[in-house]
Parts: sequence; structure tokens; C-alpha cells
Amino acid sequence: MMAKSLFASLPHRTPKKAVVGQQQNDDVVTEECNYFHKIGNIKGNFHEFHEAFSSHSHSKIKIAPFKFDVPSPDDLVSEGLRSSKMGFKGNLLDTKSSRVSSSVSEKNGAVDKLSAKKSDSAKALVPKDKQDTMNNRKYSKNEVVQVSTRSSDSSSTVMSKDRHGSHSNDAVSICLSDAHDSSGSSTNIAQLQSGPSNTKNSSLSLKSGSSSSVNARRKNSNTQYKPEKWMLPDNTGDRLTQLNLAIVGHVDSGKSTLSGRLLFLLGRISQKEMHKYEKEAKLQGKGSFAYAWALDESTEERERGITMTVAVAYFDSKKYHVVVLDSPGHKDFVPNMISGATQSDAAILVIDASVGSFEVGMDSTKGQTREHAQLIRSFGVDQLIVAVNKMDAVQYSKDRFESIKLQLGTFLRSCNFKDSSVSWIPLSAIENQNLVAAPSDVQLSSWYQGPCLLDAIDSLQPPARDFSKPLIMPICDVVKLQHGHVSACGKLEAGALRSGMKVLVMPSGDIGTVHSLDRDSQACAVARAGDSVGVSLQGIDASHVMAGGVLCHPDFPVAISTHLELRVLVLDFAAPILIGSQLEFHIHHAKEVARIVKIVSLLDTKTGKVTKKAPRCLTAKQSAVVEVALQGPVCVEEFSNCRALGRVFLRALGRTIAVGIVTRIIEDQA
Ligand code: GTP
Ligand code: MG
Repeated sequence: MMAKSLFASLPHRTPKKAVVGQQQNDDVVTEECNYFHKIGNIKGNFHEFHEAFSSHSHSKIKIAPFKFDVPSPDDLVSEGLRSSKMGFKGNLLDTKSSRVSSSVSEKNGAVDKLSAKKSDSAKALVPKDKQDTMNNRKYSKNEVVQVSTRSSDSSSTVMSKDRHGSHSNDAVSICLSDAHDSSGSSTNIAQLQSGPSNTKNSSLSLKSGSSSSVNARRKNSNTQYKPEKWMLPDNTGDRLTQLNLAIVGHVDSGKSTLSGRLLFLLGRISQKEMHKYEKEAKLQGKGSFAYAWALDESTEERERGITMTVAVAYFDSKKYHVVVLDSPGHKDFVPNMISGATQSDAAILVIDASVGSFEVGMDSTKGQTREHAQLIRSFGVDQLIVAVNKMDAVQYSKDRFESIKLQLGTFLRSCNFKDSSVSWIPLSAIENQNLVAAPSDVQLSSWYQGPCLLDAIDSLQPPARDFSKPLIMPICDVVKLQHGHVSACGKLEAGALRSGMKVLVMPSGDIGTVHSLDRDSQACAVARAGDSVGVSLQGIDASHVMAGGVLCHPDFPVAISTHLELRVLVLDFAAPILIGSQLEFHIHHAKEVARIVKIVSLLDTKTGKVTKKAPRCLTAKQSAVVEVALQGPVCVEEFSNCRALGRVFLRALGRTIAVGIVTRIIEDQA
């Protein structure tokens, strides 16, 4: 309610209501607010519940645990095969199979560079004066080129290999894959959003020279925006609605196997290709990973038997053009999972039903099930399918399914997932039970008559889209093309694009012309909110187009800032955050070093009321209003104006320590 009343009083970029789903969006904002302050309440309770359940489940079910035919990835990682930090898989689709092909521009150097970036996070909590060197980093062209030697792929951002040439040396893709957003904190957004939403872009370290004109346009951004007719969906039904579906869950729960099996069953992977995967996987003693190999394409992923970067693939259901974002489950790759999940409209949370595995996944220190569920919810994803996988390993036991549902269901409720928005599907990816058709195994069909996974996907509500707002496309990935063209990939959060159109590239402030558009490896005439596309731009300096930037309408530029007020919720087990602490700041696909310059107030996590002014530090589970100063500028909007550009998360020491929303863009003093 408070968030809604706030919208009424605040200046909007787009006073006009979205044609589709604006009301829904507002509701979501309010819900997310509620969610945010609920997070803190959840976690403590869970442990007791977990223990109660564990003993319950063990006493009731006597089933041989599932055994892997290879050492667990956890073992491999703990034995020293440390992960490198990577984002999406190469954004290239094999046009025949519509599967993701491996990253083209994967180079050792890139891994090194990205690992080096990771070390930033290790220093993150050290006060600024001890880390002068960190402050020398600038948002420069050089950095773009260095960081981007690995082609990252936006979840659904798919560029055709054939159209763009190989993803080769000249593929410039900046993999800021840790980017995720998170709304979360909640309570009293209204109280916190009283300040004006002004921009500050004079401090841009990019030398575009356009910032002043952008500022001028920004001042006009309250004028009413009227979408042209072509920008609105024509409802002719000739195109399925795109649904970005994140596949998340604890390591080894079977996410890739499930995705691979689905793609195979739906004809996206041919018999011949499947046969090849089976043969190769067997040869390497990893026969059980054959389906996962369709998505885990890199040598390291295959050797280790874990997904490291988000794989993107497609299939069509009756109702949707589904973009599958197969995320890594291992804790080392949470940032990559985040990068994919931040673009998702709905998610499948894959659970390993086998005895012991479910419990490990739910463990507050070792498991990722809870973290993934919380992160997903904090991105605004409220529709969830829980795929209780590996039911074959528990002889399709109804008791096991019900007890998982009971335990996890309570947790999901506490994350503010509504019961009516969560569906529970028992299945086995390996034995192909309940994926695209009703189960054939009587052990399952004797007690389960609900929908299969594919039907559950079709039952998801179509995502609300901001068709009638001005264009916003956060750039996930950039590829340099021939003839001076550059391709920016990302998901349109609002508005529409078509060839010939002028777009403003932020934060550089340059204006380019859309030469062509690619959607699912195919040229398309128009892209609208919700679509993931590659946008080939001309008439622009390629070095000014960068991942973490935003394409927008020339008359409605997004804000750029280095100084923000946030409302944050500090997550469990986070180290104390002090004034002066340096953290990794993530917003859409951008990442910056941030310093906490002020802790404005501590908030009651339930009511959102200020409980203490100017505390000296923040500890786990606390909610607060803070001010952060960023080392370089980021494209940003207040959460109340644009959720996708207003959610942030803070990381340090390789972990997400806080999720938050932007409550105010603070104008720097000259
Ligand atoms: P990460 O991406 O690394 O988090 O793993 P993942 O969740 O993608 O799991 P993956 O698909 O790689 O599968 C892990 C192991 O679980 C493989 O050995 C699979 O064969 C096995 N597995 C997957 N689904 C099933 C299933 O339905 N039943 C059984 N018994 N094993 C399964
Ligand atoms: Mg996987």
C-alpha cells in the first residue's frame, strides 16, 4: 500500500500506465516489500523445522540412497579444483538444434582476469583507506576489453553464431555475471523514497561528451511518453509469449539432466546428437551425465560433472516460447546463477529427492536450495515449479514427496511465495517420468494424477510486460561485429525496438541506430518488452557499448549515478558492515566497487520503522537504509520507477551479504 501511494506522489519517468500488467507490477512491488522484511524471520525458524523433518523422514522411509558414479562435485571442488568465475555460456546458439553452444571466446586470460576480480571481493570489507589501490580502477575502455575475453550470454540473449561470425577473438563480451538484483527489503519503502530521482552523470569516467545533453533530456523525462502503435503487441497470436525460465537448485539435483531430457523429448536435441553425448559421456566414465552434457559443454564442466555457467536453450510449449536458463548449483557459481535468474519470469526449483541429498540441499551452510529460492524471490520471481527430481531413487515414494513438500513448502511460504503460485511435480529426469507426459511407472501413477512438468509450465501465468513504457534494455553482453557494427544483447525490460530506430546508449550517452535485431538466432523485425535480443547497432563507437550499460529511448534516458541510497537487508552469516566498508555492488548486469558512506538508520525488519539512527555497523539479518558511493557510474533507477534497474545486491568475500533496493538517487554536489 505504501509503495503504491508513493508511486502516486513521485515523479515518474512514464506517467502513463502500462497497457499490460501495470497493476500487477505495482502489486509485485508491494509484495516484494513485504518479502524483504520477511527474509530475516525465515531463517531462524528453519533450522528447528529442518531437524524435525530430518528425523521424520529418516524414520519413515527406508530407501537406498542414490549413488553417483563419479565423485561428488563438492569433493572435487574441495580437493582444490577451484572454480573460475564465469558467467553465461557463449551466447551462441547452434542454429540447428537451438541449443547453446559453448562459449566461443573462452580464454585462459579471461578466467585469470575474472578471478582477479574475485579477489576484489575478498577485500571488500576492508575500509577504504586500506584499499587505495581499489579506487584507482576506472570504468575504462581498456577494462572492457580485458574483462570481456569470454563471451557471456545473457540468459535469453542469443546471438546467432552464423550471423555474427565465430565468437572469436573479436567477440567483446563483458561478463559481469555476478550481477543480480534483489529486491527484498521491504517494509517502508514509502518513507525512504521521499527524495527526488535526479540523475548525476557528470562524473562519468567515460569520455563520451554527451552527458550534459543526456542530463537535459533526463529533465524532460516526466513528459508523457506515448508508445507508437507498432510497439504494442498486436495480439494476433502468431507468436508465442516468451517465458524466461530459470532452472535453479542445489548442486547435482539434476537441473542439467532435466533440461537436457526436456530438450530431447521436445525435439530440440536430435537422436543423433543424443547418441553422441551418450557415447562420449560413457567413454569418460560419466554415463549418467549424458543429458547434462547437452548443456554442460565446456571441458571443465564435463570433467568436473558440474555446471559452471548458465546455459541457454529453447523449446516451445503449447503456450510459451520457453527460454531455459540452466543455472549452476554449486555455491562457487552463485553469481553466475544470479546473472541468469535475474532475467527470469518464473523458475523451476529442482530438488534431489534421494535420502540425504534433499537434506544437504536445505542445509543452511552447505546447501543452495534455500539460497536459490530466496534469491529468485528477491528478483521478483513469484511463480515457482518445484520439480522433485530423482524420485526413482526413492522408489517414487509418496511419503518422501509429501515430506519434502511439507518442509520446503514452509520455507517457501516464509520467502513470500504464495501457495497458489507454487506447483509441486514429482518426477525422474533419468527415467523420464512425468516430464512431458503422465508417468508410466505405476509406483508414481498410483498416487500422482497431477500435471506433468510441461503442463505445469503451461499453467504459469504470462509475465507482465511494460510495453507502453519507454525502451529499457540492460546490456548483458556485447559482441563486436564487422563493418564497425556492435551487437548489444539483453532482455528488453520495457518498450520496443525495431530496425532504423535511434537508441541512446548509457552510460556513454551516445546515440546509435538499430541496424538489425536477432531473436533466437533469427533476424526479427520488432522486439518488445520481455524479448531477449541481440541488437546490432551502427553509427556508434563500439567501445562505448558495454555490458552493464543500458539501451534506452533517446528522450527518456535512464539515470546514471555513483551515489545511492539503498534499503538493504543483511543476509544470514554476513560479516558486519561498517561505515567505510568496501563491497561489490551489483545492479542488473553492472558491477562496481562500492563504499558504505553512511548508515542512515536501522529498521525494524517487520514494520520497517526506524529503530535507530546512524548506527555504526550492520550485522546479519538487520534491515537498514544506507548510502553507498560507487567507484564508477552505473545506470540505475529508483526501484519504484523501474524494478529491473532498482534492485541491487552486495557481495563480499565471495558471498552475497545483502540484498536491497534503490530508494534514492543522490545528486552529487558539484
Ligand atoms: P549442477 O549444475 O552442477 O548443479 O548439477 P545439476 O543439478 O545440473 O545435476 P546434473 O544434471 O549434472 O546431474 C547430476 C547427477 O544426478 C548425474 O549423475 C545425473 O545422472 C543424476 N541425475 C539427474 N537426474 C536424475 C534422476 O532423475 N534420477 C537419478 N537417479 N539420478 C539423476
Ligand atoms: Mg547442471
